[in-house]
Amino acid sequence: MHLIAPSVLAADFTRLADDIAMVNRSEADWFHLDVMDGRFVPNITFGMFIIEAIAKMAIKPLDVHLMIVEPEKYVEQFKSAGADVITVHYEACPHLHRTLQQIKATGAKAGVALNPHTPVSVLEDLIEDIDLVCLMSVNPGFGGQRFIYQTIPKIRKLREMIVTANASTLIEIDGGVGLQNAESLLQAGANVLVAGSSVFSAKDPEATIKALKAFEKNTL
Ligand code: DX5
Ligand code: ZN
Repeated sequence: MHLIAPSVLAADFTRLADDIAMVNRSEADWFHLDVMDGRFVPNITFGMFIIEAIAKMAIKPLDVHLMIVEPEKYVEQFKSAGADVITVHYEACPHLHRTLQQIKATGAKAGVALNPHTPVSVLEDLIEDIDLVCLMSVNPGFGGQRFIYQTIPKIRKLREMIVTANASTLIEIDGGVGLQNAESLLQAGANVLVAGSSVFSAKDPEATIKALKAFEKNTL
């Protein structure tokens, strides 16, 4: 069964507690938390202080997506703030293997995110060391962007790579995901769907999560 991770970036921060409670009682599996530093991406969001506050209310794992330069400087702090999955960007890590070991040493699951232009083949030699690969299906930095369709063949390639290596790496898709493309993403081999605006801008966010969760992975 695939996982649904609503992206809190699209929540209403004037009533964040209500939105966290909604995700808690919904069929969602994780909270997806987007940390942006204004350097790796052209936008600034929140850091460990807000994540710590969210962790106090959230009853589901926190999937922390670090869109920051030098993420290795903050791994332990994000873990202490409550992160269960810590994802760093391939493009921000000259010593990716070392950073993954550092994340695992904290007890968190280690994820690697790839920008739309980065081929999945760059992960071939360390796929077994990665708990989750986050394929960016928009250019990171903002919610509410249009899905980049070239992500679909990347999912298939990555799925093949994971099967060949006999690894248990999860494939997460982040950006422009909603009811209109969830099924094709799952069919191509995705395991985790991040959904920001498609959930929080919906008339009934809880029902939208339920609908995203209900798609069958029909591989025929
Ligand atoms: C974009 C973030 C995404 C974003 C997704 O840089 O990594 O997680 O919140 O938002 P939507 O689902 O609206 O594209
Ligand atoms: Zn994200």
